[in-house]
Amino acid sequence: KAIKPIPGPPGLPLVGNIFDIDLVTPLKTLEGFADQYGPIYKLSLGGKELLVLSSWELIHECCDEKRFAKQVAGGLEQVRNGVGDGLFTAYTGEENWGIAHRILIPAFGPLTIRGMFDEMTDLANQLALKWARLPSGASVDASEDFTRLTLDTIALCAMGARFNSFYTENQHPFVDAMVDFLIESGNRGRRLPAMNMIPTRASEAYFKDIDLLKRVSYDLLKERRDTPSDKKDLLNAMINGKDPQTGRGLTDELIVNNMITFLIAGHETTSGTLAFTMYNLLRNPQTYKKLQEEIDRVVGREPVNLEHLAKLPYTNAVLRETLRLSSPITAIGVRPHPFDNHEDPILINGQYQVGHDQSILLLVKKMHKDPAVYGSDAEEFKPERMLDEPFNKLPPDAWKPFGNGMRACIGRPFAWQEMLIVMAVLFQNFDFYMADSGYQLSIKQNLTIKPKDFRLKSKLRHGLT
Ligand code: HEM
Repeated sequence: KAIKPIPGPPGLPLVGNIFDIDLVTPLKTLEGFADQYGPIYKLSLGGKELLVLSSWELIHECCDEKRFAKQVAGGLEQVRNGVGDGLFTAYTGEENWGIAHRILIPAFGPLTIRGMFDEMTDLANQLALKWARLPSGASVDASEDFTRLTLDTIALCAMGARFNSFYTENQHPFVDAMVDFLIESGNRGRRLPAMNMIPTRASEAYFKDIDLLKRVSYDLLKERRDTPSDKKDLLNAMINGKDPQTGRGLTDELIVNNMITFLIAGHETTSGTLAFTMYNLLRNPQTYKKLQEEIDRVVGREPVNLEHLAKLPYTNAVLRETLRLSSPITAIGVRPHPFDNHEDPILINGQYQVGHDQSILLLVKKMHKDPAVYGSDAEEFKPERMLDEPFNKLPPDAWKPFGNGMRACIGRPFAWQEMLIVMAVLFQNFDFYMADSGYQLSIKQNLTIKPKDFRLKSKLRHGLT
């Protein structure tokens, strides 16, 4: 094939396309450019070039871990200010990633996750109790309440900490610090590096937030060391685990980096998925009905248990389809593998030439609507296409809400069990309505996306189970 130029929007001198990017919802700009310039285009951001891919064919090629590797850049690189070489933000090849990964893989295995069932259910029941006690006609912001739930769940299951978000008017100070830290990391990622060196009120608050995140985490670690328990949670796995390959354990600093990482990575993604799931179901009453029928048939009025969770194929499909249309992590960053010898020149699709350190953004959420894979109804919410049989036959890399290869989500089984429990507890006990039937989906984007101002009303179907 002949080498082709890569299209892209024209930019201004020096700053390039920086001012083209919507500050509130950058995703809108990226998807809009994909519609305009096609499945591969380039942006210039303050002297750095970013390639944005959005078709299955191109993204599939860049998921080949022999040729490409995760790149930590932009807002994600700024998150390193708080969590350094924690699993999510570790650079490719950083030694501590391998040590933590090998120690933590068994801790996220099916056995340990099943062991977290009671605690997960306890918190799902707290959410149900809160909703059951709301005055009649009251509504809740779905994203906010699901965030309380998922944050409490990861804190309790990972490190035995109770944030008690449902019992307090104000959130735990850790939560505010974390939310502000993430927002400012995103802002810093969009600024020119020199601008981040200037001390401002925002940067002062940013580093204060980081101090608080670390202090709370060090205190939790110290508490566990002072009063050890044999709880099978992530904190104990990190304190006691030895890497089978190097024989090394995790330093306190690395434990803290990963504790904060789990709290960050483990809550926004899961709460966003739950909120989008409720939105999708309420917009598609026939899928809502099917899901509730499945839960009534399998769980009925019994307290939810582990065996129920294995028998909910339609609920699984609803979650998968939601993650397809509304992947909370909308894109992942890769670059040509830094440690491998590459063919020269490096070509994508045999016709687009890229540099050895080219930043490439895989716009997974857009790829999930590629008609070449999902057909002409790709934009529609149809859980039937995500039942096991069609799902298992999807082309490789066509469904990627959990990321790629070695650097894919370690918390996937955790999130999945948690989401199934929540769906079962909620639909067993409540009927749901949109608080505003004319609500138009609008998106709040931080490092992840979630529905904005989406309010739900719930009505108990019977006494709480
Ligand atoms: C990585 C999605 C829940 C912990 C990732 C990545 C994605 C993702 C896309 C790769 C990011 C990249 O390549 O830059 C999700 C979604 C979730 C979810 C959609 C829920 C529906 C969780 C939970 C935890 C967690 C509950 C923790 C308990 C992590 C960690 C990584 C990661 C530690 C980094 C893995 C590594 O690079 O070694 N997740 N995640 N995630 N996720 Fe999740």
